[in-house]
Amino acid sequence: MERRNKMGFIILAVTLVSAGVTWGQSAPEPVVLPPTLDNFYPPKAPAPVYLINMIQLATPFSGVASDLMQGDMENVGKTYEKFRTQYVAVSKMVPEWTSSFPMGPVDELGAALGGKDPSKVMAAMDKVGQVCNGCHIPAMAAAQQRYHWGTYDNIAATDPLSKQTVPFSVLMQMIDGSLSGIETDVEQGQIENARATALGLKARFGELKEVCAACHDSERKYYVDESVMGKIDQLQAALAANPVDPKAIGGLVQGIGFESCHKCHLVHNPAAYSKYRFSTAKAAH
Ligand code: HEC
Ligand code: HEC
Ligand code: HEC
Repeated sequence: MERRNKMGFIILAVTLVSAGVTWGQSAPEPVVLPPTLDNFYPPKAPAPVYLINMIQLATPFSGVASDLMQGDMENVGKTYEKFRTQYVAVSKMVPEWTSSFPMGPVDELGAALGGKDPSKVMAAMDKVGQVCNGCHIPAMAAAQQRYHWGTYDNIAATDPLSKQTVPFSVLMQMIDGSLSGIETDVEQGQIENARATALGLKARFGELKEVCAACHDSERKYYVDESVMGKIDQLQAALAANPVDPKAIGGLVQGIGFESCHKCHLVHNPAAYSKYRFSTAKAAH
C-alpha cells in the first residue's frame, strides 16, 4: 500500500511538473498535422511553400539578434517590423495553428526593443524562441516525414522470381520469406531447397537495390552494398558445404538481418510509419 502511495506521489509530481511546463508556455500545443497544411506542399502547391515561409520568418528573427549584437539600433526596428509582418502572415496560413502564434511575446519583443534595457530584449527574444520550439518539437519531424520523405506506395517492384509487379511492402514480405526460409529449410534438412531460396534471396536483393533510385538520385551505400551482397555470397558458400553447418547459416542470416534489414528500417521506417499515423487521408485509422 505504501509503495502505491509513493508511486502515486511520483506520478502526481511528474504530472504537476509537466503541467507547469504547459502553463509556462504562451501557446497551446499545435494540432499535429492539420489537413490545411497539405495546401502548402506538392502536389497541391508547386513548391514547399510553408517551409519557404518559415525560412522567411527565421531570417528577420535572426536579423534582430545580429543587429543587436552589432549595436545597429537604427536598423533593428526595421528588421523587427519585417519579422512581425511575416509572423502575422504565417500565423494565418494554417487556421488550425493560428493560436500557436500568440502575439503577446512578439509585442513584448517590440516593446523591449523600444526600451533601453538590453537584458529585457534578450529575455523577450527567448520567449519568442519558445513559441517557435513549442510547435517545432511536436510538429516539425512529422511535417518533414510527411512532406519530404516520399512514399513507398507508388513504388512498383518486379519480383524476379514470380516476374510479378508488386508493391514495395510485398517485395519486403517476399525478401522476409526468403531470408527466414533459408534457416527453416536448413533446420528441416532440406538443403537443396535452402540453396534455391538463397539464389532467390540474392535476386530479390538485386531488385531491392533498384528500388532505392525511386527516391535517391545518387547511389546509396550500406543496406544493399558490396558488404551485404558479400554476406549473401558467403551464405551461398556455406550452403554448398558438405555437411552444412546450421550454426554458420544462422549467423550469416542474422548478420544480413541486422546489417541490411534492421539498419535500413531504423533509417526509413520512422518516416514511413509516421506517414500512416499523420496521414490526413487515413486519419481515421
Ligand atoms: C530501403 C531500406 C530497406 C531494406 C534494405 C529492407 N527494408 Fe523492409 N521495409 C522498409 C520500409 C521503408 C518498410 C515500410 C514500408 C511501408 O509500409 O510503407 C519496410 C517494411 C518491411 C516489412 C513489413 C511489410 C508489410 O508492410 O507487411 C517487412 C516484413 C520487412 N520490411 C522485411 C525486411 C527484410 C527481412 C529485409 C532484409 C532482408 C528488409 N526488410 C530490408 C525498408 C527496407
Ligand atoms: C505552429 C507551428 C510552428 C511555429 C509556431 C513555428 N514554426 Fe517553424 N516550422 C514549422 C514546421 C511544421 C516546419 C517544417 C516545415 C518543413 O520542413 O516543410 C518548420 C520549419 C522551420 C524552419 C526550417 C527548418 C529546416 O531546417 O528545415 C525554420 C528556420 C523555422 N521553422 C523557423 C521558425 C521560427 C523562427 C519560428 C518562431 C518565430 C517558427 N518557425 C515558428 C512549424 C512552426
Ligand atoms: C520512399 C523514398 C526512399 C526510398 C525508396 C529509399 N530511401 Fe533512403 N532515404 C530517403 C530519405 C528521404 C532519406 C533522408 C534524406 C536523404 O538522405 O536524402 C534517406 C536516407 C538514406 C540514407 C542515410 C543517408 C546516407 O546517405 O547516408 C541511406 C544510407 C539510405 N537512405 C539508403 C537507401 C537505400 C540503400 C535504399 C534502397 C534499398 C533506400 N535508401 C531507399 C528516402 C528513401
